[in-house]
Amino acid sequence: MSPQPVPSADASTPPVFVTGAAGHVGANLVRRLLEDGMRVRVLLRHEDNNAALEGLDVERTFGDIRDLNATRRAIEGCQGVYHVAARISTIEGNRAHRREVFDCNVVGTRNVLTAARETEAGRVVMTGSFSAVGYDLDNPSAPSNEAMQFYPMDRTMPYERSKSLAEHECWRAAAAGQDVVVATCCAVVGGADFLPSRLGRAMCDYSNRKLHAYVDGGFEFVAARDIVEGHLLCMRRGRSGEKYIFSSEFKTISEIIDLWEEVSGVPRPRRKIPSSAMLVFSEVASFYLSRFHPDFPQRFTPGAIRLLRKRLHADTGKARRELGFKPTSLRAAVHEAYAFHYHQRSVITNPDAKRPVANGAGRPDRVLTGQGVRPAAEGESS
Ligand SMILES: NC(=O)c1ccc[n+]([C@@H]2O[C@H](COP(=O)([O-])OP(=O)(O)OC[C@H]3O[C@@H](n4cnc5c(N)ncnc54)[C@H](OP(=O)(O)O)[C@@H]3O)[C@@H](O)[C@H]2O)c1
Repeated sequence: MSPQPVPSADASTPPVFVTGAAGHVGANLVRRLLEDGMRVRVLLRHEDNNAALEGLDVERTFGDIRDLNATRRAIEGCQGVYHVAARISTIEGNRAHRREVFDCNVVGTRNVLTAARETEAGRVVMTGSFSAVGYDLDNPSAPSNEAMQFYPMDRTMPYERSKSLAEHECWRAAAAGQDVVVATCCAVVGGADFLPSRLGRAMCDYSNRKLHAYVDGGFEFVAARDIVEGHLLCMRRGRSGEKYIFSSEFKTISEIIDLWEEVSGVPRPRRKIPSSAMLVFSEVASFYLSRFHPDFPQRFTPGAIRLLRKRLHADTGKARRELGFKPTSLRAAVHEAYAFHYHQRSVITNPDAKRPVANGAGRPDRVLTGQGVRPAAEGESS
């Protein structure tokens, strides 16, 4: 199938459709689409935190992707679909939780694909997860690419399995002739993190001295602006029925803490807990909490620790070669995230934490505007 034409800024062109627009990736994607002059229609849920869309010139529809009719009504008249919504979770959870994860991520994806096909909405770009990409079983930290199949025989999280099954929904639709591309996302770092994300919360807790220990291990991280760029590249140039991995950099947790230390000026916790020990502790805690208090926030879940221990690396060669993807700096993304939580959410209350005015080069690299954070012009102060 041929790549989609880039829609123009003309107000008479149909809007693009975005699910999950209130979330971390969605909020960044919507801002970029608006900056690019696109008309945007979003699907939101009434009862949830939609602060990310406040003040933005978007068409709002309300509904749940588990509801096919509501999804079809919402997509009707759009051209181009970014299916970003998912129920993210790193816990095993109880039966109800696992059902919610499955229904949102697998049935929801099937519904979005069906609705897009029935309303002739054109290409669907679905946000995939790097945790649902395969890896070398004998050497997990060897770079993973798109051709490696998710391995379900290890202990995996319901979320990981659901994202793998969501991809299968995409491949099934593509095999039947639908135009669909998967933009595979790593752990996202950046601003416009209104909900906020687990990583954003951890950085704020760190800055407020509420993080008393950290674990070893590492993962692939992607700057919010890079995963947004990846989605746009998939829409414009991706090959239908293919997936592309977008990452900015592999970092160990210790290197992420280095960046948090730099950005906040707050010294790191003294305790670094070996992930092998943390895994045992978290298995016990999670067994109890998942069953009896599934909504209790768990920072170090067994699933997350198992992932960190694998130190999975991403091979972004396919996205670079085929789409011209050029990742930017994760360090800048950490500064952007810190500025967002400090200024926009005002949740960094530790008086010893730095004001986010400058990047490591001693000049502001990001400036806050009513709509978020943008790169600073030469000589501008934030
Ligand atoms: N963040 C990461 O580090 C990361 C890493 C790998 C992959 N991803 C993928 O990236 C995508 C976006 O992640 P994110 O970080 O932006 O997640 P997020 O901040 O948790 O946002 C997810 C959004 O999806 C919406 N949503 C969930 N279930 C829905 C349903 N049944 N109907 C309608 N909307 C629903 C949520 O709406 P409510 O606000 O109403 O709940 C929320 O706005 C997901 O597909 C995720 O799997 C993210």
